[in-house]
Amino acid sequence: MKSHVVEQFANVEELDTESKYLVHKAKDATQHSYAPYSKFNVGAALMLEDGTIVTGSNQENASYPLCMCAERVALYTAATMHPNKKITKLAVVAHKKNHKELTPATSCGACAQVMLEFEARQNKPFQVIMLAPDNHWLKCSSVSALLPMGFTKDSL
Ligand code: THU
Repeated sequence: MKSHVVEQFANVEELDTESKYLVHKAKDATQHSYAPYSKFNVGAALMLEDGTIVTGSNQENASYPLCMCAERVALYTAATMHPNKKITKLAVVAHKKNHKELTPATSCGACAQVMLEFEARQNKPFQVIMLAPDNHWLKCSSVSALLPMGFTKDSL
């Protein structure tokens, strides 16, 4: 199993400059969230190797299973618009409707599995930054921290 590091920060200000910037971009992306059903607005921001930022937000549907998470919107947009650039970092944040304060949101298993595929595709891990349920910011050195036994093509 690949090794990874998970760093914890009590405050967003303690993150490195690029991570703070990405959190800020993810926050901005929540403005485009369409979440009339859950009222849970999620934003994701990716940084690519040349500094390009790609964002995504959750997009819901009256047919609930069709709802799409912010992380996957950002990842698939990056794959389509910048197919040859590697991802270096991803930040995800959320807030509840009419709340200014961020609320903890760790990526769902489906998004973690998709992120894992992206690490495999680019043959390089990327950092994942999120606010944990205990209100600490987490910076994971690789998606494998979120999904240590994720399914990969090596199993096929
Ligand atoms: N959501 C995300 O966008 N990302 C996650 O990792 C967790 C959940 C969205 C999906 C849905 O629109 C809402 O949050 C409530 O589950």
